[in-house]
Amino acid sequence: MSAVYNDAASAAASALAPPASDVATVAVIGMGYVGLPTALALRDAGFPVVGIDISEQRLDAIRSGAVDLLDRDRPRLTEALRSGLLDLTSELRALAAADAVIIAVPTPVDDDFAPDLRAVHAACGAAVMHARAGQTIVLTSTTYVGTTQELLVEPLTERGFTIGEDIHVAFAPERINPGDALWEQATVPRVLGGATQACAEAAAQIVAATASKLHVVSSPEAAELTKLQENTFRAVNLAFANEMAAAAGFYGVDPVEIVEAASTKPYGYLAHYPGPGVGGHCIPVDPYYLLAPLRDGGVPSPVTESAMVAVAGRPAAVADRALALTAERGIADAGARILLVGVAYKPGVEDHRESPALRIAGRLARRGAQVSYHDPLIPTVDIPGAGTQHSVVAPDAADYDLVVVAVVHPEHHYAFLADAEHVLDATYRTPGGQFRHAL
Ligand SMILES: NC(=O)c1ccc[n+]([C@@H]2O[C@H](COP(=O)([O-])OP(=O)(O)OC[C@H]3O[C@@H](n4cnc5c(N)ncnc54)[C@H](O)[C@@H]3O)[C@@H](O)[C@H]2O)c1
Repeated sequence: MSAVYNDAASAAASALAPPASDVATVAVIGMGYVGLPTALALRDAGFPVVGIDISEQRLDAIRSGAVDLLDRDRPRLTEALRSGLLDLTSELRALAAADAVIIAVPTPVDDDFAPDLRAVHAACGAAVMHARAGQTIVLTSTTYVGTTQELLVEPLTERGFTIGEDIHVAFAPERINPGDALWEQATVPRVLGGATQACAEAAAQIVAATASKLHVVSSPEAAELTKLQENTFRAVNLAFANEMAAAAGFYGVDPVEIVEAASTKPYGYLAHYPGPGVGGHCIPVDPYYLLAPLRDGGVPSPVTESAMVAVAGRPAAVADRALALTAERGIADAGARILLVGVAYKPGVEDHRESPALRIAGRLARRGAQVSYHDPLIPTVDIPGAGTQHSVVAPDAADYDLVVVAVVHPEHHYAFLADAEHVLDATYRTPGGQFRHAL
């Protein structure tokens, strides 16, 4: 099933299949968007799994199946719970009984875009406190370079463990793309860096169950920086895609047509499309885990810095453009009736955390506009400044001064857009609207 390549992991390759399921119990700390599918994959590979989360609410949601999962993962969850091979608990003491520990807790930023390290500190602290000889501990949360060393290797060494001999530590960043049925977790290769070669080999035996293959790098720091490079690459390119969309608008051409034409070049170009802003809790967040230490270290990163300013400012730019369009027609901000299409953070998901559409909605509401929304996947949502709102199920375009399109979900119909008079399409993709306005 899985393969490991590169010298450092060659020894692990022979040890990969089948897993030693009779002995290896894996504890997963953090049963969120990453931890839950990881636990299911490990359980499917034969490992008994203990899912640990500080949120009883999250554990109850998992027990009842009321969680955001790919359709194909739902029967896996039912079977995992039924079989007894997936235990769920909020007791961190359960860590002591595990042979391997995977840490998948959130690494967000605060309101000032400073990395919020509380969860990763708490989870690594718990792993260290309950560590015992023979364990393998793998950090998978996206984080700053040096986290594995500072929060696991050093405190474990202080506790008297010899890393690579009586305990193993590695960093293996997660690449899961929630809601993506094409690139489900097991089909994606994983990068892994061990504190020692023995650590990489021990961690490979666990992580291989969640990946199509492993690429072992020389250290945890190399694996940490790899993850930050991947997601910063995407953030910078999305900022550039928006900039090029403005250029296309200046020249009166369709930006999506340009991206698709450029994509016919078989090398040296990777398509990124313009949009209402960068969503999710990875791409708009992770680059700050790169930038913050570089700023402290005096290393200039002007390209990334300015891309992140553009990324952070994009939703406000869309909202301001929307109200400029209504103002041009003599409609005051206060009371402008705006329908926002799509509040998910990207097409095809029910997740609206870090959604640029909600930032657009919040800014519109703060400027006094009457904001309604339509999203077939999200029946209710809290709009900052406008309270809890319910999705308008069958919108009548005549009820709104402007329709702002932020996200359209595949396999859903947006026929009402055809009747809309004024449309600001931040996806650059939907037909409809008598007057279609550019950003
Ligand atoms: N979701 C993604 O698309 C994705 C993809 C790749 C990498 N990542 C990274 O994976 C990590 C986890 O992300 P996520 O999306 O699963 O987060 P999440 O917010 O969905 O879930 C994290 C879970 O951890 C729990 N938790 C928080 N602190 C804890 C603690 N101290 N002990 C035990 N449980 C704790 C929370 O209650 C929550 O249920 C982050 O670093 C993220 O950047 C996420």
